[in-house]
Amino acid sequence: MAKEKTEYVRELEDLPGIGPATAEKLRSEGYDTIEKIATASPHELAEIGDISVDNAKKAIEAAKKSTEIGFETGDQVYERRKQIAKISTGSKELDELLGGGVETQAITEFFGKFGSGKTQVGFQLAVNVQKPEGQGGLGGKVLFIDSEATFRPERIRQIAEAQGMDPDQVLKNIHVARAMNSDHQILLIEKADEIIKKENIKLIIVDSLTSQFRSDYVGRGALGERQQKLNRHIRALQRLADTYNVAVYITNQVMDNPAILFGDPTTPIGGHVLAHQSTYRVYVRRGKEEKRIARLIDSPNMPEGECVFKVTPEGIKD
Ligand code: GTP
Ligand code: MG
Repeated sequence: MAKEKTEYVRELEDLPGIGPATAEKLRSEGYDTIEKIATASPHELAEIGDISVDNAKKAIEAAKKSTEIGFETGDQVYERRKQIAKISTGSKELDELLGGGVETQAITEFFGKFGSGKTQVGFQLAVNVQKPEGQGGLGGKVLFIDSEATFRPERIRQIAEAQGMDPDQVLKNIHVARAMNSDHQILLIEKADEIIKKENIKLIIVDSLTSQFRSDYVGRGALGERQQKLNRHIRALQRLADTYNVAVYITNQVMDNPAILFGDPTTPIGGHVLAHQSTYRVYVRRGKEEKRIARLIDSPNMPEGECVFKVTPEGIKD
């Protein structure tokens, strides 16, 4: 069961009985990861960290539990997957394309050119997730990582009002953080466990996932490092999605790919890292006026397909 799951411990300081000073001592002796603590002997840890053997045992126990989390038995996976729930996008067609809406325990990526509606879909989801279950929502709150400074409370109000919801309350339920650079963005997600639990977060939005990485790692020489960081970032997002049964919605830009001579020459940023780790990938492009065309690309359990939705003053519609 998700609730009984052991929490991930990433920092030495998160272990019981280990304060900052002890953590520092341990690190300086090479005990710098949870894995190393998990395999240490109580006596050596007690000596190096200058703590009691009892405390050392407790810390080792906690470290072991947290490293075991990589494995689940099949029935645990089954139990966890039974809790998957969906958030409505506001468009029936788009929901159907996604197999019922934006799913928890999964990463849903919308990519496309500027003005294609990626941010608007995010706003609509941020409102809809707050509706009760059975009405397109999950009765939960939102974590919104804004990396492009395009979060617009006025627009959220407008969408909320169109749904007959209290705009003030809707805004109170959205926790926004502006990511200043890619490292900051990574940290915001890796430190999100507390707020997710405390605030009953059911949707995490990262808009956009890639722009800070793109500007922090410029040129071919930096590509390897960028991909490594992106990989770590998206794995952290998937972990939160699984651990707390939340939905993750990310947006992504496209770049011109000169290698494609026929058809649409745009490809999403992030290469294989994103291609393999997004559960649902949707390519959006502009149609006439309010119309947008969405195409589902390589989903594990849904057929590829296309649909049309609209970005209206009231939000996302069929
Ligand atoms: P980038 O972040 O620049 O890559 O684009 P995006 O895909 O996030 O685009 P976004 O979701 O911001 O969509 C912008 C488009 O949504 C605008 O060009 C409008 O067509 C539409 N839009 C935004 N706000 C409103 C609104 O209040 N009313 C209506 N009708 N359309 C809006
Ligand atoms: Mg945008």
